[in-house]
Amino acid sequence: LAVLAAVAVLGYLLGSIPFGVVITKALGLGDLRQIGSGNIGATNVLRTGNKAAAAATLILDGAKGAVAVLIARALFAEDAAQLAGATAFLGHLFPVWLGFRGGKGVATFLGTLLALAWPLGAAACATWLVTAALTRISSLSALVAASAAVPLAWALGHGDAALLAAALAALVFLRHKANIGRILAGTEPKIGKKS
Ligand code: G3P
Repeated sequence: LAVLAAVAVLGYLLGSIPFGVVITKALGLGDLRQIGSGNIGATNVLRTGNKAAAAATLILDGAKGAVAVLIARALFAEDAAQLAGATAFLGHLFPVWLGFRGGKGVATFLGTLLALAWPLGAAACATWLVTAALTRISSLSALVAASAAVPLAWALGHGDAALLAAALAALVFLRHKANIGRILAGTEPKIGKKS
């Protein structure tokens, strides 16, 4: 039990690092929570116009999920790896450093899946990319990728990751409530556009 608690804390602490906020602040681009959607993710960093900052946020927010999984797997076992990925994701959504008001979890979700079962993660990333290429809408791409994750887990022989994928995908949907409203109203901004 102490081991599982340690894994959960490690995952949470890694996941709670708000890279988007840190990077935009460090580059003097302002307070991300006052920009665009106010979200702390890479999509919103891109609204500052700084593509490198957005790419760094995407990679680091993804990496924190992946690193949590890889550390837990190396030190413990596969169950611990899933727990670490889940808690890293929760850390991104509810970071203690930002009064528990965090992000929507898309990059951390994808990074966690990549480390848990790379074919599943790659397929989820590809789903995001194809949807983004077709629609130019980041949130819609995230919702499609999250919806695809569970069927993809089964189809690719990673049924062991399906329950976790389902739970995280459900949270991705809950965090996109405002985006879903804008998508339905036809007012959701395209990638890179300020509004
Ligand atoms: O990854 C979050 C993305 O799906 C939506 O971000 O800033 O457009 O709400 P945003």
